Amino acid sequence: MLEERARRERLLAHAAAAASACRKCPIGAQRRNNVYGEGDPCASLMVIGEGPGETEDLLGRPFVGRAGQLLEKMLGAIELAREDVYICNTVKCRPTAPGPRGPKNRAPEPDEMVNCRPFLDEQIDVIRPRAILALGAQAAKSFLGRDFQITKNRGRWYEGPLGIPLLVTFHPAYLLRQTGGELTAVKRLVWNDLKAVRAKLDEAPPAAPPEQATLFGV
Ligand code: URA
Repeated sequence: MLEERARRERLLAHAAAAASACRKCPIGAQRRNNVYGEGDPCASLMVIGEGPGETEDLLGRPFVGRAGQLLEKMLGAIELAREDVYICNTVKCRPTAPGPRGPKNRAPEPDEMVNCRPFLDEQIDVIRPRAILALGAQAAKSFLGRDFQITKNRGRWYEGPLGIPLLVTFHPAYLLRQTGGELTAVKRLVWNDLKAVRAKLDEAPPAAPPEQATLFGV
């Protein structure tokens, strides 16, 4: 397992360097840091957000701002530490739009998600998690198509890349914008989604096929 972990770390480090050199989108030249992703390369859960924000861009790490703090609490509620999972985004550069006080965050454009997709696919292929948790409508759309509606379609399992079960829940930044009764209602839905993730991870792992050498007992 140590060897396997080291192998995955090497592959991810190599891919992160390629992502960092990428300038396919204009945001590649505007960002301060490429935010490739981080966490356990042997994680059973991969968490995928939409794109880095200002704090992530500054530090080069995913989900380290307010939404990240809430994400850690959400994971903690199902007994997962941040270090137990692998966290990344659909795009690795911070998408920005001009704002009155400098660049402001915006959702990634579909073509930015398409350009960045090979990096995400490679991460999924290296990590091969037991489940993927997509956060928010943008991340969901990159896997499930433009018609995905978070209020209608979240909270159930889909077949994600490589046949990996994928569930969508509300983005923690969305939760942070809710108050009062709406916050209570959204929290309840997110809690149900998180429990579904816990249950999926607690299922027995699929049995590995027998080694050919031991087949038929000969
Ligand atoms: N929101 C995201 O979708 N990703 C981050 O890394 C931070 C905030």
